Amino acid sequence: MPLPRSLSVTSLSGLDDWTEEFDLGDAVLFEIAWEVANKVGGIYTVIQTKARLTSEEWGENYFLVGPYMENSVRTQVELIEPTNPALKRTIDNMNSSGCKLYFGRWLIEGSPYVVLIDVGFTAWSLDRWKSELWENCGIGVPWFDREANDAVLFGFLTAWLLGEVSQGHGGGGWPPHILAHFHEWLAGLGLVLCRQRQLPVATIFTTHATLLGRYLCAGSVDFYNNLHKFNVDKEAGDRQIYHRYCLERAAAHCAHVFTTVSHITAIEAEHLLKRKPDVVTPNGLNVKKFSASHEFQNLHAHSKARIQEFIRGHFYGHLDFNLDKSVFLFIAGRYEFSNKGADVFLEALARLNYLLRVNHSEVTVIAFFIMPARTNNFNIETLKGQAVRKQLWDTAQTVKEKFGKKLYESLLVGQLPDVSKMLDKEDFTMMKRAIFSAQRQCLPPICTHNMLDDSSDPILNCLRRIGLFNSSSDRVKVIFHPEFLSSTSPLLPMDYEEFVRGCHLGVFPSYYEPWGYTPAECTVMGIPSVSTNLSGFGCFMEEHIADPSAYGVYILDRRYRSVDESCSQLTSFLLQFCQQSRRQRIIQRNRTERLSDLLDWRYLGRYYISARHMALAKAFPESYYYEPQDPSSVSGFRYPRPASVPPSPALSRHSSPHHSDDNDDDDERYNEDLEAEKDRLNIRQPHSPKSKDEVRGD
Ligand code: UDP
Ligand code: G6P
Ligand code: GLC
Repeated sequence: MPLPRSLSVTSLSGLDDWTEEFDLGDAVLFEIAWEVANKVGGIYTVIQTKARLTSEEWGENYFLVGPYMENSVRTQVELIEPTNPALKRTIDNMNSSGCKLYFGRWLIEGSPYVVLIDVGFTAWSLDRWKSELWENCGIGVPWFDREANDAVLFGFLTAWLLGEVSQGHGGGGWPPHILAHFHEWLAGLGLVLCRQRQLPVATIFTTHATLLGRYLCAGSVDFYNNLHKFNVDKEAGDRQIYHRYCLERAAAHCAHVFTTVSHITAIEAEHLLKRKPDVVTPNGLNVKKFSASHEFQNLHAHSKARIQEFIRGHFYGHLDFNLDKSVFLFIAGRYEFSNKGADVFLEALARLNYLLRVNHSEVTVIAFFIMPARTNNFNIETLKGQAVRKQLWDTAQTVKEKFGKKLYESLLVGQLPDVSKMLDKEDFTMMKRAIFSAQRQCLPPICTHNMLDDSSDPILNCLRRIGLFNSSSDRVKVIFHPEFLSSTSPLLPMDYEEFVRGCHLGVFPSYYEPWGYTPAECTVMGIPSVSTNLSGFGCFMEEHIADPSAYGVYILDRRYRSVDESCSQLTSFLLQFCQQSRRQRIIQRNRTERLSDLLDWRYLGRYYISARHMALAKAFPESYYYEPQDPSSVSGFRYPRPASVPPSPALSRHSSPHHSDDNDDDDERYNEDLEAEKDRLNIRQPHSPKSKDEVRGD
């Protein structure tokens, strides 16, 4: 099998060329994470979206290693015989020694090979391996920490796998030079064991957060001003995560190359893990470009219509607001109430509600909270809402059909119909019955599910305190969907991507957020978002865009302001957003979408490539030479302030002589006008060559 040579990452719409000449030789890459084919949070997104680019570079020599999870495997992985004879022997050897390893292709872009390990199958070794860990590394893992037990099993099994591979067992030109890239503490023990056993393996450890950082921030600690002061061992001990912390810190220190996903987490790692990362590897996405540049606007309109249908059902009996003048906001992610900034969002919503009411605004805001919590299914009132909507729809269809039939018959005999006879008594009775059944005595529900911890749930308790109950006078309505979205849901059958596209603004006011995929995903879909200067994404955008808010990337200051001031700033972002006309929102979405190239793996993948080359050269200096080449040679790159319109859409006015805010035809025309304007200014064209002057702000 011819080996791919090193990849040259080529120009991306004005982002500088970057090529790192490096001969990979016979190297083989294993990328190891608990989230391989196993959706938990953002790390899954990293691995899944990056696979295409990594497969392009490494071809048949790329293997992802993760845990075997039956449900995910059933839907995402095609199990096959290992293609490489030496790897097949390795897996067979392990399987005949009491392990259960599977091999397959992960059915995602790039279709990478996966080795999936059933850790439960080898649970009989747990105690032995824990003693070994204690004896050799001095790390003691308590019996009750299930996640840490999994980390031990996964770590010993991956080190076993890599040890076997490094012996080669003849055939297929193996053993090759092995490069193993481990993600996050849950997978880190494999790395520690590779080093402790002195296996010939080049290692990289990427941390996507630090355990202590996450825990400390979730408490009431002034984290960023005290980073250098924490007594890390004590803090970890106090939180009963000392063993996890040891695993994480050991992996960071043992790695040939250590990376974090953002500069803010790099500083945190330096203080809490006591190692400065060698490379910062920001998270990218697989950016899809549509052949028609406005397809993403059409998708927004299409998905919004589906969310509106849901709203019609959810608010049945209380649809006293204009859906066409409603703005959909959302927050989504793992349920870490204060780390993800749900507290700040709720407070800002309460203030926004007040401001919209006193200003007699016609706008209604619907704020969705998509954060999984413990539930026992959808609640009846919510399901009833959709059933009532469906019933009203069916009634309207039945009447429409009868009406249509009579109309047709009348036209067939050459007569205009007598409109007063088109509907009979029976039709009216049916319609009245439908209207009666759509009456409601209670307010539309806040939560779509039955919560198991209703009385102690932080979102619900906060809503009770601030008094947002979906009453008629509220201009801000709230829907809490405590489960990730799914296209098979009986309530809101949309997947997350469709939902995001249909919303107007994603709000992610995180306090602790090493990167934060959710606002990045909004950006590539052309949906504006709020993030913060404490999130990796927010800082990255601040660095690369001259005027982020003009592009629909609002960056909240949570670093230098008090919580109350941050709430006020968020309220003013939200109010400003609500005051925009449809036309201004369309312009803003166009601008947001223009930033996607910046977040594409085709550009950001270079940091991973660099880290890998560095690790190979460090571990095998006799075979590899790495000339440090700073992949951030584009760090001077900045998107300029949009030239076509004033900095804030709130201030922009369309110069077209005829326009009305609510006319869709007009919008279409306006979209075209805008495209023409961008072409004229040569500021759009994502893949058209740009001069450096054009893309550099300075
Ligand atoms: N997500 C999802 N379904 C949902 C809500 C969120 O798949 O209903 C995904 C989202 O696409 C994103 C990830 O969850 O990729 C969250 O990643 P992020 O980096 O924002 O936060 P993390 O959970 O890793 O802290
Ligand atoms: C897209 C569509 C337009 C639609 C608009 C609604 O731009 O192409 O036809 O009118 O979305 O925008 P809004 O911000 O009001 O949801
Ligand atoms: C972690 C972080 C998140 C980041 C993700 C992927 O889960 O909490 O901010 O986006 O990893 O790196």
